[in-house]
Amino acid sequence: MVKGDRLEKELCISEAAIQERVQVLAKKISSDYEGEEPVLIGVLNGAVFFFADLMRAIRIPTKMDFVRAISYGSQMESSGSVRLTKDVEIPIAGKPVILVEDIVDSGLTLSYLKEVFEQRGASSLKICALIDKLERKEKDVFVDYCGFQIQEGFLVGYGLDCNEEYRYFPEIYRLK
Ligand code: IMP
Ligand code: MG
Repeated sequence: MVKGDRLEKELCISEAAIQERVQVLAKKISSDYEGEEPVLIGVLNGAVFFFADLMRAIRIPTKMDFVRAISYGSQMESSGSVRLTKDVEIPIAGKPVILVEDIVDSGLTLSYLKEVFEQRGASSLKICALIDKLERKEKDVFVDYCGFQIQEGFLVGYGLDCNEEYRYFPEIYRLK
């Protein structure tokens, strides 16, 4: 069986384009945070590959931690409510935090996470997302470091899943 061979899909972002963009974001973060040691907080599971590539490309010291936030059931639509099912372990009060997310869709997840970490006293809080999907915004979330803006569609690959499948592609596809 070939990976994803039964899937009706079209290429949306190539592996080379992703890797090139990761380098650009990492360079910007490295210069913006020079002299600091930001805590990168990855949003599981979708952000894992982006997180790993980004952190290794950043040229200043950083720390890593992860949260898991549930906003989607098994459907392709947001349920409208967000909760944490895994929390960070590093204390973040007084520290610069960068939330690292795979994709911003309705904006509900990141606006919730932003509020949580602001309340916990992060000294600064920025958002880095590989993809900002524009079609379904409910909450305005400013993405400080954005990889790609995409108008619409449901995307899989490079960590993004559809019902826990297809995370394994090194590139990103749009489902047909
Ligand atoms: P939001 O709370 O609506 O912004 O949704 C954020 C979460 O929904 C992301 O972290 C993804 O896990 C998931 N999501 C949204 N759009 C897509 C997509 O096109 N493909 C895969 N997952 C998606
Ligand atoms: Mg996610």
